[in-house]
Amino acid sequence: MLEGRRIVLGVTGGIAAYKAIELSRRLVLAGAHVVPVMTEAAMNMVGPTTMTALGSEPVKTSLWADSHPIPHTHLGQTADLIVVCPATARILSDYRTGRSADLLSATLIATEAPVVVCPAMHTEMWNHPAVQDNVSVLEGRGVIIVPPEEGPLAGGDIGAGRLASPESVFDVIASTLTGDIAGRAVGERPTRGPTSLAGRRVLITAGGTREAIDPVRFIGNRSSGKQGHALAEVALSRGADVTLVTTSSLGSDPAVNRVSVTTAAEMLEAVTSRADSNDVIIMAAAVADFRPKSAAERKLKKNDGVPNIELEPTEDILATLGASRRTGQVLVGFAAETDDLVANAASKLARKGADLLVANNVAMPGVGFAHDTNAVTILDADGGSVEIPLSSKTAIAQVILDAVENRLSPIES
Ligand code: CTP
Repeated sequence: MLEGRRIVLGVTGGIAAYKAIELSRRLVLAGAHVVPVMTEAAMNMVGPTTMTALGSEPVKTSLWADSHPIPHTHLGQTADLIVVCPATARILSDYRTGRSADLLSATLIATEAPVVVCPAMHTEMWNHPAVQDNVSVLEGRGVIIVPPEEGPLAGGDIGAGRLASPESVFDVIASTLTGDIAGRAVGERPTRGPTSLAGRRVLITAGGTREAIDPVRFIGNRSSGKQGHALAEVALSRGADVTLVTTSSLGSDPAVNRVSVTTAAEMLEAVTSRADSNDVIIMAAAVADFRPKSAAERKLKKNDGVPNIELEPTEDILATLGASRRTGQVLVGFAAETDDLVANAASKLARKGADLLVANNVAMPGVGFAHDTNAVTILDADGGSVEIPLSSKTAIAQVILDAVENRLSPIES
């Protein structure tokens, strides 16, 4: 599966460093050539001999002790992927600021290969705004973050910060290296970058619509808007001109053109009136399929008895866009499913005339509505598909936008 792939496995000094041993073993068994790099602190946690024995070559620990005169650029340039597992708050900070403090941080700065970072630390540290800020800046630059899980931590504490399992880190690495989505050749570098969407207009919808029953009640859904807002943030970080049509109260960058809406009808109007001027439309919103035929002007009173609320269908925004879009526009839909994920999503993709459909099984733990993580399958109208295991919504947004970029025709000059 990973035959011939050269993977630099960076290990930093967290208690979870022992899990890097299992990750290394899995990667080697899958055919990868694993180059272990340990920080000084990591060597207090696991022995370099073990990492050497389970890697594909002797562990590297210093900028100065290598037979190669410039080991960091050599490692960075020859790697197909670099994974940091576990990643401490210190390495996140060094990587974010470009501080070359040791062999691992220097290698991270000297590479153009995809980088997967797996933070692990105590809950208080993980939740600290400085750490969260570093993570979101790194994600914005295209670094793939495998978020920590909740569970028992060192010292008997329980909370968020536990390193993701070696299996899930392995899955992220494998899908990063072998994902063949929407025409991207296997192993080809992702196109993502700070200007890869420059000159493109991208419209994204986010959140769940609310359909009024009376002045205080509505029919709604559990969508938080997090995935749509993450898409807007990543599209902006790649240089796009972003319009975010959202029902959510989550924040957005001031550079995003934000249009706040509440109902499906308002979203329909906001999207269709802007559709022609956008190169990409991503319908991440959970739009109501039905609304009350008429909303009561006054609050319905309990003493008036159980109300008989007559419903009518809303217009399907995605299907409307699919039927009338201009040539070259890339249209992305979402599908929240609880059963027969791929079959339901494939029929939705065809029915609505989209190019890509992002399907999530909202019945799975940690997936979909209101979570910070998601796990999706992206289906392509040309028949390709890619599965993305449980990852942060920003990481999912990166992969969705990679697939979008692969479908965009070059800008004519
Ligand atoms: N969608 C839309 N307008 C609607 C309903 C849905 O544009 N009135 C879009 C959503 O934004 C999403 C996609 O269609 O991108 C699929 O939404 P989903 O709720 O999964 O599908 P439905 O069309 O509601 O189909 P079903 O009820 O069979 O799951």
